[in-house]
Amino acid sequence: MPIIAPSLLAADFSSLRHEMGSVAEAPWLHLDVMDGHFVPNISFGMPVIKALRPHSRARFDAHLMIEPADPYLAAMAEAGVDHITVHVEGNAHLHRTLQSIHALGCKAGVAICPATPPEALSEVMDMVDIILVMTVNPGFGGQKFLHGQLAKIRTLAGMIRQTGRDIVLGVDGGIDEKTTPLVTEAGATMLVAGSAIFGKDDRRAAIEGMRAAARPALLSAAGE
Ligand code: DX5
Ligand code: ZN
Repeated sequence: MPIIAPSLLAADFSSLRHEMGSVAEAPWLHLDVMDGHFVPNISFGMPVIKALRPHSRARFDAHLMIEPADPYLAAMAEAGVDHITVHVEGNAHLHRTLQSIHALGCKAGVAICPATPPEALSEVMDMVDIILVMTVNPGFGGQKFLHGQLAKIRTLAGMIRQTGRDIVLGVDGGIDEKTTPLVTEAGATMLVAGSAIFGKDDRRAAIEGMRAAARPALLSAAGE
């Protein structure tokens, strides 16, 4: 059963506390932080996250689309996030960044854009807790799923199996009931979804629909 992480980016921003309550059955809440520099859009930051923190029991999963990320890690942890995911692109000293996230007591994630090959993560596989494959170009919700990313999900699932570590493999962008079977068969264990959940009136049904659409991962013939 994959972890469902509703992305607050698609929620009604005039009513965030209420919107967050409508997805309370999901174990994670995905928080897209954008700076108008790494990505061509600006969303929200620490003050909003800090204000929401006492009103949810979900794990707060911050996706930092900001460059540089290092100066904001401590403030993110202070705002109450549980996971901090940074991009492999735009963080030159990724190893040190992941160390810093762990030192703050958070789970450390790395997100990877569509144009970046999976090998870019090979040297941090021993320290990363979450890998987030971008199945759209980051910056906006409601974009079309990029089918070309399925091969990367399969490759990363294999790299994760080789470590023997318990690394969450997430996908982000264009995830809905139609794409859920594809990404879960490829090995995704965590699904970020904005429009597919907040775009529906019945959020509970949307979350259940995605869970029901998940398929077990197909392992390679070699049985890796
Ligand atoms: C895009 C963000 C996503 C976004 C996904 O840059 O990282 O988390 O909210 O939105 P949907 O699910 O609508 O594609
Ligand atoms: Zn995201």
